[in-house]
Amino acid sequence: MVKLRENEQKTLLTVGSLGGKAAIGQLVQASGLAHAAVMRAALELSKENLVRLQEEKRTILSLNEEGQLYARRGLPERRAFDAACESGEISIEDLPHEADIPSGVVPIALAWLTRKRWATINREKGTLIVAQKEKPPSGSDEKLLKLLAAKRTATVEKMDKSLQQMAVTLKRRKLVKVEEKTFRTLELTAKGRGLIRKGIEVSEEVSRLTPELILSGRWRETKFRKFNVTAPGSPVYPGKAHPLQQTIERAKEIFLEMGFTEIRGPLVETAFWNFDALFQPQDHPAREMMDTFYLSAPKAGRLPQKDVVNAVAKTHEDGWKTGSKGWGYKWSGEEARRLVLRTHTTAETIKYLSKHKEPPIKIFSVDRVYRNEQLTYKNTAEFHQIEGIVVDKGVTFRDLMGTLKAFYSRFGLRKVQFWPCYFPYTEPSAQAMVYVPKLKRWMELCGMGMFRPEVLAPMGIKYPVLAWGGGLERIAMLKLGLDDIRLLYGNRLDWIRRTPLCQ
Ligand code: PHE
Repeated sequence: MVKLRENEQKTLLTVGSLGGKAAIGQLVQASGLAHAAVMRAALELSKENLVRLQEEKRTILSLNEEGQLYARRGLPERRAFDAACESGEISIEDLPHEADIPSGVVPIALAWLTRKRWATINREKGTLIVAQKEKPPSGSDEKLLKLLAAKRTATVEKMDKSLQQMAVTLKRRKLVKVEEKTFRTLELTAKGRGLIRKGIEVSEEVSRLTPELILSGRWRETKFRKFNVTAPGSPVYPGKAHPLQQTIERAKEIFLEMGFTEIRGPLVETAFWNFDALFQPQDHPAREMMDTFYLSAPKAGRLPQKDVVNAVAKTHEDGWKTGSKGWGYKWSGEEARRLVLRTHTTAETIKYLSKHKEPPIKIFSVDRVYRNEQLTYKNTAEFHQIEGIVVDKGVTFRDLMGTLKAFYSRFGLRKVQFWPCYFPYTEPSAQAMVYVPKLKRWMELCGMGMFRPEVLAPMGIKYPVLAWGGGLERIAMLKLGLDDIRLLYGNRLDWIRRTPLCQ
């Protein structure tokens, strides 16, 4: 026994009342149901083999602007013929004026005149000679133009052969617009007819349980509409956070879950915080114009309190009291005051440590940084860094590795290794690498290490500091399955829409 919902019953009966076959559009009109409701009912009814759902592709023609003009005033070759008709011969030069056709269209008119054998061209004299005095009867192309002008649209499939051919010609002459449309019709099957004959009554169904139904107790007698949760619906594009923003939020969430506190700082920093405080010598290659954007106005910022600046300067020059030899050059305050777009969030980390010295400290930032990189599939000049530090008595490099494993595994990145490497401000230093099965290679996640005495002493920090910082876009690309970073910044609405709300 087939159980039909209200809309399906209505649709079936409407097909019956329209003679057993009807187009979806007709059914919408006759039943008063919404188009989507009829379509859904049609799918269900055809699944139950009560109707046949037929789809037909139709080609719909309509005149474009030029076509409309010719429908009103005649094709250019017709106008040229008429102009030449009286005297039997006309100078081609006079055609634009005499036949009122733009000179650009004259060659087209001539081509069609000869093709239709309405006239010949005398090239020497530059004239057009009509083949006969009486007007040639209206051709199929002209008939089609008139038809389209009168009816606005015509269906190619419904035309006879000669007009169909002309449709092709007019399309080539770019006088018509062509649209492909799918028309759907429903036709009752024997089973459908049988069911109608037996008589189906449309029973009212309720699709929403209201307080009123509950209070009055009428819900007991009410017939509720069953929902088909597998029926296709139309796509909905709700507002949502950009996928990159979602990754940023997730990174922050993970840090918060792990007990870290967020810090933020300005995008423009002094070279002092971006480089000097991190024991990067003033002639370090990373400072060069290649990587760093220096500000041209204003050029310089303010340095922090004297004792910190002096300690940093001394450490660079001879190691100060850190036991290091330093870099052995004359440190310049002017160089340190230069303003840069920060190249890493470690600038904020060290600035924070200059003011907060008592452990335990667990802070993080997820923020924008800038590097003068060529824009490619894997690099942008601005991107986001994930950065965290832990300061506590007795923490070791092992704690750092453990923290990072925990952090990245929450992003679903489990195969993580630590490879040794170099940063001027940490010792030991390493980079966390993740294995990407799709690319069959290891990819760098972040730089990490324990701040050197040359970094800690000038800030007055007496405890070990675990630090790491790395790109966020890489993680976003892995999570979203992208192979071009530019997509993240490209405002590609189709891609943003397709990206699921939750990863
Ligand atoms: N600041 C480094 C970078 O931008 C990463 C890093 C942070 C390395 C902290 C070690 C410690 O690549």
